[in-house]
Amino acid sequence: MANPIKTVASDMKTLWHLAVRRAKGKTHAERLENFYSGQANNYDDFRRRMLHSREEMIQSVNVPEGGVWVDLGAGTGENAEHIGPDIEKLSQMYLIDLSESLLDQAQQRIDARGWGNVKPVCHDATTFVPAEGQADVVTFSYSLTMIPDWFRAIDHAYSLIKPGGKIGVVDFYVSRKHPDEALKKHPWGTRSFWQPWFASDNVFLSPDHIPYLLNKFETVKLDERRGKIPYLPFIRAPHYLFIGQKPVDAVGQD
Ligand SMILES: C[S@@+](CC[C@H](N)C(=O)[O-])C[C@H]1O[C@@H](n2cnc3c(N)ncnc32)[C@H](O)[C@@H]1O
Repeated sequence: MANPIKTVASDMKTLWHLAVRRAKGKTHAERLENFYSGQANNYDDFRRRMLHSREEMIQSVNVPEGGVWVDLGAGTGENAEHIGPDIEKLSQMYLIDLSESLLDQAQQRIDARGWGNVKPVCHDATTFVPAEGQADVVTFSYSLTMIPDWFRAIDHAYSLIKPGGKIGVVDFYVSRKHPDEALKKHPWGTRSFWQPWFASDNVFLSPDHIPYLLNKFETVKLDERRGKIPYLPFIRAPHYLFIGQKPVDAVGQD
């Protein structure tokens, strides 16, 4: 059982990074590394209580035999755990991130599990191309909100995915003021509170992720939900889970 004093102490360290310390750096990569380097060791424990539906998103995708899976903005590589024993079916899984500290944690996880087919790569999610050229599955968990050109990241994922291949996304968001009828509509308080709250950590909630994904991919699954945030009782942050398919008859890469 976890020692509650240790948990609170490591939570306080993480909260200091989240709530007080501002990420410094001239480039996006420098700001990410500056933000994460002091909290990489505690990352998994804290984020497990905050980043909801990751396991379900990963387990909603069938693991393709001999396939290539690219996790963009992979952090410590926790998503690889969520695949379970089926990870052995993949010929290769790539964990792509710009934070060396988080990728070090991913490498330790890979070594501990003895995964020979999982590779961490320090690279920008909007430009990474696997050696195989294309992928069967591309996933983003809570990374699109931290990628400034998130639309470019989705376009790039589309070009990487083989026709008939899958995309899985889970992330925080707010709805549009006037969303499509089929989508959830958040009240003014939700739309106005969460965007500035997350933006102080360079996490930018967008009302446009879902419409963009729906426009680009065939929908396999879409769920709009809310989840707890540690130390914020009574309120729940909205997130969505999307599984899409690139049309089987898609021609070209765009
Ligand atoms: C909130 S974390 C989520 C990490 C992981 N997917 C998870 O579910 O725990 C967002 C991640 O996106 C990464 N990231 C942000 N922008 C990126 C970019 N342009 N290219 C690659 N990774 C990026 C960050 O370094 C960070 O690890």
